Amino acid sequence: MRIDILTIFPEMCTGPLGLSIIGRAQETGLVTIAVHDLRQWSSDRHRRVDDEPYGGGQGMVMRCEPIFAAVEAMRTENSRVVLMTPQGRRMDQTLVQFFTGITHLIILCGHYEGIDHRVVEGLVTDEVSIGDYVLTNGAIAANIFTDAVVRLLPGVLGDERSAAEESFCEGLIEAPCYTRPPDFRGMKVPAVLVSGHHEKIAAWKQAESLRRTAANRPDLLPEQ
Ligand code: ADE
Repeated sequence: MRIDILTIFPEMCTGPLGLSIIGRAQETGLVTIAVHDLRQWSSDRHRRVDDEPYGGGQGMVMRCEPIFAAVEAMRTENSRVVLMTPQGRRMDQTLVQFFTGITHLIILCGHYEGIDHRVVEGLVTDEVSIGDYVLTNGAIAANIFTDAVVRLLPGVLGDERSAAEESFCEGLIEAPCYTRPPDFRGMKVPAVLVSGHHEKIAAWKQAESLRRTAANRPDLLPEQ
């Protein structure tokens, strides 16, 4: 998979995505991530990429010319152009899984009040929101989207099971986990986990998973 991220703050993406699991996935060639400064495609003398909104209103709007120029320079027949916006479809694990099947993602990061709507109409294939709140910058959302997609690519997580067993895969929150010491300030690891009894452990995990889902995310439980 190749991912091209277009932003006016490239460092907001190169730092976080260059580290840890996603950094390693790039080093081993499982994914190529290129972060581009949108200002490169500005024809303005001052490299400006925004302007005042038609019809008045607060804030600045991202101009369409640099975005069209950038996307047209990098898009292929197989590209999806994803706009990070709080107005997009709310991201969940199902949506993330869909994007793992795409070979080329171009991610547009909004900034300012908004983006000229001709970008949405003429270029964007998917509008994605990471949740019902507003960030200062779509680059932060792009990092989250990229991380969630890339970690699901084959070979990125050392242990393939960890993606299959994790939270949301079966629609429930995972059971709690523990490591040493067995007793920390009187708080003990549940005895079943150190019993070595695999069936009992599996049953405990299932029950805990249901209990925690009911407490934290009742909306995920199937309707009775
Ligand atoms: N940009 C600002 N807020 C956002 C959000 N919630 N999701 C995606 N992009 C955004």
